Amino acid sequence: MSGVLSSSIGRKVAMAASAFFLMFFLLQHFVINITSIFSPETFNELSHFMGTNPAVQFVLQPVLIFGVVFHFVMGFILEARNKKASVKYVKNNGAANSTWVSRNMIYSGLVILAFIVLHFIDFWIPEMKYKYIDFLPESPNRYYEELVHKFHSPIRTGAYVASFAFLALHLLHGFKSAFQSSGMSAKRAAKLETVSKIYAIGIPVGFIVIALFHHFNQH
Ligand code: HEM
Repeated sequence: MSGVLSSSIGRKVAMAASAFFLMFFLLQHFVINITSIFSPETFNELSHFMGTNPAVQFVLQPVLIFGVVFHFVMGFILEARNKKASVKYVKNNGAANSTWVSRNMIYSGLVILAFIVLHFIDFWIPEMKYKYIDFLPESPNRYYEELVHKFHSPIRTGAYVASFAFLALHLLHGFKSAFQSSGMSAKRAAKLETVSKIYAIGIPVGFIVIALFHHFNQH
């Protein structure tokens, strides 16, 4: 592993692999959360399953957390290396050969990192405390109420919505970059462009809809 990660190509491929893994997670996370708009019962059932299934809790969840941390750490390493290289060769200076979004992946990434910290404080940490510290009895219908409660605050809702806009920017460029790093041919990448654009805009917009729906639908 360290051998693979010590080459520039190896690092890019590893970054693309972790990106595809996180995109897959995001899709299933979206599918579960969108049910909260249509059917609180379905949302509770799915959340209860995910929250109590040992394979999800003790295999998938640690793998996911590793994937998130890996993606961030590799992102910082790639950014630092690119900066060094662009000073040396003056190759990445401005709009001449890169778009604004691609040059700012690190900034959109940092906004998403800040969001993840807030999101863990909001949902993941209370969940871990409930189950593994306080050992409270499992109550299969609690998830929906907990979710709705979080979107009461306009500040938190606003922070979520703004973060999802940055997520769209990050994904728009992320797809292109990941296709390139994974060695896909330009022809194939062009074919997948529409699907990747639909994902990169559709998923964040969907998350925005969920946040706004619960904010304006408080009871
Ligand atoms: C309106 C939007 C969202 C809602 C309502 C939401 C809801 C939740 C909930 C309820 C949990 C706790 C799951 C548990 O451990 O029981 C969670 C965990 C998590 N969320 Fe979100 N989420 C949203 C958007 C996002 C986005 C955009 C990302 C990534 C950029 C994300 C990443 C994560 C991660 C990494 C976890 C921890 C892993 C897990 O336990 O499943 N979430 N989210």
